[in-house]
Amino acid sequence: RTPITVLISGTGSNLSALLRATAEPDCPYTVVGVIADRDATGLEQARTAGIPTEVVRLRDHADRAAWDEALAAAVARTEPQLVVLAGFMKLVGPPLLDAFGGRIVNTHPALLPSFPGAHGVRDALAHGVKITGASVIEVDAGVDTGRILAQVAVEILEDDTEDTLHERIKTAEQPLLVDVVRRLAAESTGR
Ligand code: GAR
Repeated sequence: RTPITVLISGTGSNLSALLRATAEPDCPYTVVGVIADRDATGLEQARTAGIPTEVVRLRDHADRAAWDEALAAAVARTEPQLVVLAGFMKLVGPPLLDAFGGRIVNTHPALLPSFPGAHGVRDALAHGVKITGASVIEVDAGVDTGRILAQVAVEILEDDTEDTLHERIKTAEQPLLVDVVRRLAAESTGR
């Protein structure tokens, strides 16, 4: 199976979907590490599953560049073939991009190129669009500017709040992310 490492900052529902899929006999990937930039609640499910975890905090490093190096080193130690940002709320810097360029994917809760950045759900609601969704993209040096690998549309309802809408987006986003990761992992097998 293709080794993948997942980076998270939050509750890890996308991580959870990725882990659930590994129980299927034909799953082409295995999760070899989960790395967070804070004490993300999602780390717990990785620990329960016996997967190595690491927390690389910005505040424990002299500056952003030192944190970028430490993050890339932590990811490299897990020896992944593919890196998945699943609710990782920091931009990744040159060290990670240099080491894993073209092999990092990110999931975003909006239909890119609309509403990039940290508040994709809130920004779509504020703009008043009627359809939003989720996008899985290849990570490049920009903010959510990489090649789009897959998207799913989600309707915005009259009485949606940021929370209700985000929950519905996550329900559509999880299988989308699992599909893309399965596909990329299957392609990289035997590389
Ligand atoms: C997901 O909806 C993901 O798209 C979003 O954070 C959520 C994490 O949920 N990511 C971003 O907004 C990145 N800019 P989870 O922790 O339950 O998987």
